[in-house]
Amino acid sequence: LPCAKFWNGVLHKYEGHWIPSMSLKGMISFRKHFKVHDSDIILSTFPKSGTTWLKALIFTILNRSHYASNSATHPLLTCNPHHLVPFLELKIYDENENPNLENLPNPRVFATHLPFSLLPRCILDSNCRIVYICRNPMDQLISRWFFATNIRPEYKETSSIHELVEMFQEGICPYGPFWDHVLEYWNKSLEKKDRILFLKYEDLKEDIISQTIKLADFLGLPFSEEEKKRGEIEEISRLCSIENLKKLEVNMSGEYKPGVQNKAFFRKGEVGDWANYLSSAMAEKMKKVVEEKLQGSGITFKMTS
Ligand code: A3P
Repeated sequence: LPCAKFWNGVLHKYEGHWIPSMSLKGMISFRKHFKVHDSDIILSTFPKSGTTWLKALIFTILNRSHYASNSATHPLLTCNPHHLVPFLELKIYDENENPNLENLPNPRVFATHLPFSLLPRCILDSNCRIVYICRNPMDQLISRWFFATNIRPEYKETSSIHELVEMFQEGICPYGPFWDHVLEYWNKSLEKKDRILFLKYEDLKEDIISQTIKLADFLGLPFSEEEKKRGEIEEISRLCSIENLKKLEVNMSGEYKPGVQNKAFFRKGEVGDWANYLSSAMAEKMKKVVEEKLQGSGITFKMTS
């Protein structure tokens, strides 16, 4: 397979997509062995686009009848969101080639970074629900840079933001090209509106309440009038906010997997932070290629707060 440099090894070009070496084995097993249930919920994301946030939100919305969102024993207070909603290719099928997932309570909730076209055939043919989130590519790239340099400080010596921008333009980034990832889910979401929910990080930042309502409706667990009145939506959004998750010992210590600290998933959580790091030439290059590639699709990104 054609390869490209990546902070944590190499990216392999697999059926037109750049897959990190660390996901390859898990991806192949996931595609081969996964058996979907129509009740499954799959969170699909482009990395560094709000995965952790959505994991927390989906878990909390789905489990609100078991765990009150203001309860002192809520699982989010003692468990990192990545443990509550595990990645399929990066965790479940990486640790075990053919795990038994049949005994998990329904609805099962999983996460993946795989592009739509690389999901197992059974998912494409099923009625399971897919929640997708993406983010403006410039904030995504800066978030990725900090994630990588946080985990591998030496990466700063061998790479640069400029280099990431150049690679991005060529479509080379984890699970990229970015535009293919976004467009595949976007087009499918237009086709299957009740099965694929397409979200953007910036929309959640702008109005978390309406986005949480939309998410609960999509998941088939809409908020009742009584819940709305007692402030349940506000409580969930507060529980899942970066400010709250960042305060928790569980997220500030410990490792998500060997060498990856939980705290690497929580940085600033802002829209437009890219402006502090990208030169105007770099930003223009990125905007130009993204505009070109997404032209006519109807997808736009908010770049500043
Ligand atoms: P920044 O690096 O820009 O701060 P992912 O979860 O897909 O890996 O994305 C990580 C990005 O989401 C990071 O962005 C991180 O700070 C931000 N993030 C994590 N939890 C969040 C939350 N609860 N609310 C908003 N942003 C969050």
